[in-house]
Amino acid sequence: MQLRGGAAAIFLAVLIVFPTTDAFNVTSMLDKHSEFSTFNHYLSVTQLAPEINRRRTITVCVVDNPGMTDLLAKHLTLGGIKNVLSFHVLLDYFDAKKLHQITDGSALAATMYQATGSATGSSGFVNITDLSRGKVGFSPEDNGGNISATFVKSVEAQPYDISIIQISNLLPSYEAEAPAPAPSQVNITKLMSAHGCKVFADTLAGSPAETTFEGNIDSGLTIFCPGDEAMKSFLPKYNNLTAADQQSLLEYHAMPFYESLPGLRSNNGLTSTLATVGNKFVFTVQNDGTDVTIITKLVTAKIINTLVDNQPLAIFQVNKVLVPPELSKLGGLAPAPAPGPAAESPKSSKSKHKSPPAPPGPSESPADGPDGDVADQDSSGAEMVQIGGGILGALILTVWSTFLPL
Ligand SMILES: *[C@@H]1O[C@H](CO)[C@@H](O)[C@H](O)[C@H]1NC(C)=O
Ligand SMILES: *[C@@H]1O[C@H](CO)[C@@H](O)[C@H](O)[C@H]1NC(C)=O
Ligand SMILES: *[C@@H]1O[C@H](CO)[C@@H](O)[C@H](O)[C@H]1NC(C)=O
Ligand SMILES: *[C@@H]1O[C@H](CO)[C@@H](O)[C@H](O)[C@H]1NC(C)=O
Ligand SMILES: *[C@@H]1O[C@H](CO)[C@@H](O)[C@H](O)[C@H]1NC(C)=O
Repeated sequence: MQLRGGAAAIFLAVLIVFPTTDAFNVTSMLDKHSEFSTFNHYLSVTQLAPEINRRRTITVCVVDNPGMTDLLAKHLTLGGIKNVLSFHVLLDYFDAKKLHQITDGSALAATMYQATGSATGSSGFVNITDLSRGKVGFSPEDNGGNISATFVKSVEAQPYDISIIQISNLLPSYEAEAPAPAPSQVNITKLMSAHGCKVFADTLAGSPAETTFEGNIDSGLTIFCPGDEAMKSFLPKYNNLTAADQQSLLEYHAMPFYESLPGLRSNNGLTSTLATVGNKFVFTVQNDGTDVTIITKLVTAKIINTLVDNQPLAIFQVNKVLVPPELSKLGGLAPAPAPGPAAESPKSSKSKHKSPPAPPGPSESPADGPDGDVADQDSSGAEMVQIGGGILGALILTVWSTFLPL
């Protein structure tokens, strides 16, 4: 017992030190097998690969290059291809051995497509069936009992994090393949209005900023729209701004590139916005456990909902208006309370982590603005993540170590 506890403590210590390191890289695992290069290529261009790398206990069902031709002949959007491929990522670990030992002959596995929330009903589940003579069948759950594909071989495995297996052909997934509208045809104001950001959408619709937003959709755009309550209470302040400042404030709510939620979680640091000029009108993206926060010098806002996350467009709802420190009417350039040469500090504090963007250290507490409604977030966010990871690791280890002959 004591030995086991000691070993777990050592593992725990290791986990606390390296909590966020990806345990595997699906791209490099598949790089060794050129017969799956097309599948691998689309995992990367759809940005599914980093989402896979952030998960644990998963199975990627790949098909060889000829098996991809039918899909590519359909000329789906990248978003459509992403949906189809994410339907081939099972949220459980199945290697050859486990596949052949499925209790009661069949099992239902949730897929990453199900996890996106786009799937309706049971269309995001795959039925794995242990057939006679050692064969294993795969089919969409709603396939009327027909088997769509069969297990070919194990490609790579890293127990029990990731198993990559080859199946005979892609699974039909009519819903995942449904043509998504071309990104530039997405009506962003209509979409935000329908999902809790109507006040922001209406404000945007009356501003030249709308054109800036729309002009960036095709090349990649990530919008942070404040929810109706937050935006409504901010409107008196907004209406008090000059037209130019109003435009800057709105354009401050979007980044000129696409970033998924997992991408935001893993790429912390200083980020440019549609309003950025030089090093002004930037903010910091910082994960706080599994939450993602947007930190300006005056406000720490949190992502509370995903409206769209479909390359090249992502729209996330945030719980606060992002107030840029450059707008003096909003309290940005009021004299800092602490005297000294660094009192007027937006530039000097930024320049030290201009490139490459790095997570702000504990000394860079964002809540140094004079504004009263600043969320006074303390600087222990990064530590919380690590400790959280460590506790999770310890829990997993506790379970795991009971099976280990320590
Ligand atoms: C994964 O591997 C690919 C190719 O080997 C490499 O280009 C990519 O940077 C790696 N990703 C990470 C997150 O290390
Ligand atoms: C199952 O296969 C049969 C015969 O090929 C076909 O007629 C039927 O439409 C299939 N069912 C579904 C739900 O695909
Ligand atoms: C999976 O498919 C098999 C054969 O098509 C069927 O007999 C079984 O009931 C299905 N299992 C589930 C859980 O839907
Ligand atoms: C988006 O939808 C709104 C409301 O439905 C409409 O007024 C507006 O003209 C639409 N914008 C575009 C660019 O189609
Ligand atoms: C509008 O601006 C004026 C002058 O800058 C200020 O006194 C007033 O408090 C502001 N009103 C609001 C609602 O912010």
